[in-house]
Amino acid sequence: MEIQISEMSISDFNDIKDILTTEFDNFWNENILEEELNSPSSKYLVAKQGTQIVGFAGLKVVIDEADIMNIVIKKSYRNQGIGSLLLKNLINLCNKLNLNLITLEVDEKNYNAIHLYKKFGFEKIGARKNYYKDSTAIIMKKEIKR
Ligand SMILES: CC(C)(COP(=O)(O)OP(=O)(O)OC[C@H]1O[C@@H](n2cnc3c(N)ncnc32)[C@H](O)[C@@H]1OP(=O)(O)O)[C@@H](O)C(=O)NCCC(=O)NCCS
Repeated sequence: MEIQISEMSISDFNDIKDILTTEFDNFWNENILEEELNSPSSKYLVAKQGTQIVGFAGLKVVIDEADIMNIVIKKSYRNQGIGSLLLKNLINLCNKLNLNLITLEVDEKNYNAIHLYKKFGFEKIGARKNYYKDSTAIIMKKEIKR
């Protein structure tokens, strides 16, 4: 069945809050996600197969820049192109909002996420040692050219 991308609502959040850590990702804290969804500077998208939520992604906008806060695909739906679809839609959204730059931080050991970001033109601009528990965060950016 086709995957549909739409803006993430609080009702979408309520649908997945109890399975966030088990079926999506173990780092995620539901209170922070709820706060983010209520923040006017945040933009979140959700991927649905029918009525089931299979992924979500979001960013924070500051002036003409966006920082990707997360992109998470339900474990049983990974490696099927849904992460790519969400990232493509996030980039399109930044374009529509007339932003000039997208940045993000990713664990240097998160090889498939790094692969995904590079595929969409993100490049490494720096690193922060011990940003995550035992590993370094890579900082990446993508300039939006119109
Ligand atoms: C990162 C994540 C969002 C990717 O979502 P996804 O739906 O699996 O992504 P896609 O299927 O669109 O693409 C995955 C790509 O990674 C590649 N890949 C998979 N495992 C890989 C690995 N170990 N090393 C390098 N590339 C890898 C796949 O081949 C695919 O590449 P392709 O599009 O060139 O064929 C997903 O794995 C996830 O939710 N991870 C946990 C949360 C997370 O770490 N998010 C990033 C935080 S910054």
